[in-house]
Amino acid sequence: MQSTIDTLTIVRPDDWHLHLRDGAVLNSVVADTARQFGRAIVMPNLRPPVTTIDLAAAYRDRIHSALAQADIEPGSFTPLMTLYLTDNTTAAEVLRAKESGFVHGIKLYPAGATTNSDAGVTDLLGRCAPALEAMQACGMPLLVHGEVTDPAIDLFDREAVFIDRVMIPLRNAFPELKVVFEHLTSSDGVDYVRQAQGPVAATITAHHLLYNRNALFQGGIRPHWYCLPVLKREKHRLALLEAATSGTGRFFLGTDSAPHPKGLKEHACGCAGCYTALHAMELYATAFDSVGKLENLEAFASLNGPAFYGLPVNQGTLTLRRATYQIPAELPMADSTVVPLAAGESLGWTVQQ
Ligand code: DOR
Ligand code: ZN
Repeated sequence: MQSTIDTLTIVRPDDWHLHLRDGAVLNSVVADTARQFGRAIVMPNLRPPVTTIDLAAAYRDRIHSALAQADIEPGSFTPLMTLYLTDNTTAAEVLRAKESGFVHGIKLYPAGATTNSDAGVTDLLGRCAPALEAMQACGMPLLVHGEVTDPAIDLFDREAVFIDRVMIPLRNAFPELKVVFEHLTSSDGVDYVRQAQGPVAATITAHHLLYNRNALFQGGIRPHWYCLPVLKREKHRLALLEAATSGTGRFFLGTDSAPHPKGLKEHACGCAGCYTALHAMELYATAFDSVGKLENLEAFASLNGPAFYGLPVNQGTLTLRRATYQIPAELPMADSTVVPLAAGESLGWTVQQ
C-alpha cells in the first residue's frame, strides 16, 4: 500500500491537543513541540488547573519564557490557551476568555476521568448551562474528554457510552455550540462525528492510528503505551485511520502528547499518557503511509484544524523525508527522564530540520 512519495512538504502543521506541563520540564517539552508545529492547543490540566483568564495569561507568559530559554525564534510558535471547565465557570469568565483573543477553547474533563481531573465537571447540563450558553453565543469551542467515569462501565466502552449519555444530550441542548471530540478512539466516535449535524470535529492521536490494545500487552505489560482514553481493538484503529486519512474536514491532528517521569509510568499504578511531541510528524507520516494516503496528511495536520477554529493556516512549511528515524530510548527532562512512545524503535519517516 505504500506510495512512491519520498519527500513530502506540507504547510507547517499545528497540534490541536497538547500537554505542555509546567515548571522544570516546560522548556524541553515546548522545544520538542515547536520544532515541528506552528501552534498548539495547550491543555489546562495543571495542578491547580487553569480555570481563569488570569491563570491562563500567567501560564502563557511562562510558555513564552520557556520558548525564549530554548532559543525558539519569537513568533515561530504560538500557544493557543484553554480554560478548564468547572461546575463554577461563569458566563462572564467565558466572555473574558473570548475577548482575550488568546484563549481558543474551554476543556471539559468529566471529574475523575484522567490525570488531574479531580476539579472537573460533575453534572454538565445541570451545573454548566450558563457557561455553555455563553460559549455557544460567542463561538468559543468546547473541547471534550469524551469518557464517562461510571465505574460500572467497562473501561473500553467509556467513549461509546459517553456519546449516548453526554454528547447527544449536550448537542441537543446547545446545537450551535462548537464541539471538538478530543482524542477520538473508537469507531462509535468516528461514526458519531461523521454524521452529527452542526459544528462538530475531532482530534486523533498518532498512537491511536498506529496501535491497538495488543500494544499494551505485547511480551508483558508495557506502561509507555498506556493513555486515556485507552487503546482499543483493531477495528477501532482501522476506523480512526480511515477517518484521519480521508481528507474529511472534521478530523484533525491532536497528539495528546503527555509526558510523565519514567518512574511514574513504570510504577505499580502507572500514569496515563504517551510522549509523542518529539516525533509526532514522523509517527503520523508512518500511519498515513501505511494506507497509501500521504497526500491527505496536509489536510489533517495543517488545514482542517485552522478551518474549524477560524484561524489562518500557518506561514512556512515542514518537510518529511522517507529516511529511517531512530526513536531515542529515553530523554532527559529537567531532573527526570521521559520515555518517548515506541522508544528504541525506528520509523520510516524523518522531519527535515
Ligand atoms: O493519557 C492521558 N494523559 N490522557 C489524558 O486525558 C490526560 C493526559 C495527561 O495529562 O497525562
Ligand atoms: Zn489530553
